[in-house]
Amino acid sequence: GRKSIDELVRADEGLISRSIFVDDEIFQQELQRVFSRAWLFVGHESLVPNPDDYFVSRMGTESVILTRDRQGQIQVMLNSCAHRGMKLCRYDHGNNRTFTCPYHGWSFSTDGKLVERPGELVGVPGHATHYKGELDKKQWGLKTVAQVVNYKGAVWATWDPDAPPFLDYLGNMRLYLDAALDHRDGSAGGSEVIGGVQKWRVKCNWKFAPENFIGDLYHDISHRSVDIVGIGPGGGRGRRDPSATRSAICFPELGHGLLGRLPFYEEGPYAPQYARYPEVEAYYREVHERRERTLGSAMRVQTSVGTIFPNMSFHGRQPRTLAVFHPISPTEMEMWRMYLVDKDAPEAVKEAARHYFLRYSGPGGMTESDDMENWTGATEASMGTMSRELYFNYQMGVGHAEPVPEIPGCAVNGEYTEENARIYYRRWAQFMNGLSWDELMAGAARAQEKAA
Ligand code: FES
Repeated sequence: GRKSIDELVRADEGLISRSIFVDDEIFQQELQRVFSRAWLFVGHESLVPNPDDYFVSRMGTESVILTRDRQGQIQVMLNSCAHRGMKLCRYDHGNNRTFTCPYHGWSFSTDGKLVERPGELVGVPGHATHYKGELDKKQWGLKTVAQVVNYKGAVWATWDPDAPPFLDYLGNMRLYLDAALDHRDGSAGGSEVIGGVQKWRVKCNWKFAPENFIGDLYHDISHRSVDIVGIGPGGGRGRRDPSATRSAICFPELGHGLLGRLPFYEEGPYAPQYARYPEVEAYYREVHERRERTLGSAMRVQTSVGTIFPNMSFHGRQPRTLAVFHPISPTEMEMWRMYLVDKDAPEAVKEAARHYFLRYSGPGGMTESDDMENWTGATEASMGTMSRELYFNYQMGVGHAEPVPEIPGCAVNGEYTEENARIYYRRWAQFMNGLSWDELMAGAARAQEKAA
């Protein structure tokens, strides 16, 4: 028989079986035990700015509709007609007063003035005649998520009514996500996605991406060519401030982690990087100074890249991005990237950011192409009968993680380490072992209590 999850994920020893990246049975279990329970990132509020706007997103392998109802509330529903399953929205985004199915014409509404709960069935052709008025419309609404949250513009949802509140799930990782979502001055909702959502398929297991973004600084060697060419935000050499030491920071009880700057609580001095674009430089300098003035020092943390378990990652420094990795099959994922800018930033700033994103990220971006090559190569070379029996090595820095007393539940383990990947897969194994939410959240609760 197949090995147990605990045999496949020996995180404490830094050993993770290759089979969890290629096995179909594991993949089906992931969809049930991870994707139907965890809080998932489904989009950004700026994708649906007006009432009745919708954006078609995904949760796991399933298509969902993210919409803003007439009352302005964000709703997330399965994009599948309750009658016989047809996709209701076949465009990526649009504006709909009701969602009408192209197959037999049933229609559904989110308008709180018309319906008691979002996604209710409001129109059935032939209800009086063919159905003799006997079909109970209240019973046949769209399936909606159990919980949805708009956290500083980022929309998260879960199918699990028993999942803890999103902010408990996020824990103190919140500090670092905030750096991406409201970079400017801590005011919520100040960002927008520009240039549409880039979406593309990659022939690799979906876990390679969040694992990479959770803190794999070691792979920087893959991007040597990028460093040599020089595609920094201001067009210069290098992708980071060499004077800044980054650390792998993680939340072992929750499975989240990032690369951030030490010492904690300090963003560091403003690092000029837009010498060629004075207007952009002036804007970012002003933002930096405003953050120093308006945010407490504890809020001025800096995140380079981070991952929220299971499949969302982000860049927290300017320029900021949000990414999500949707599973398609064990050996294929669909990668989405959204580029965030301050809504009221000058046009020149938005343009500079857009150009940077295009050369840096996305299917044609230079760093992302490097990564995709690695992930597809590793997936392909782990599919064979010999190779899938082997373990990947995640042993860098085993046993060296130190708690961070200032941030409950937080641990740090040097700049180059695989600790963050280990805690990610340990979390994955907990979900795959079917732990209850009480069990899943017990560690984080203990860490908070200890600190209090
Ligand atoms: Fe939608 Fe029949 S499948 S109305």
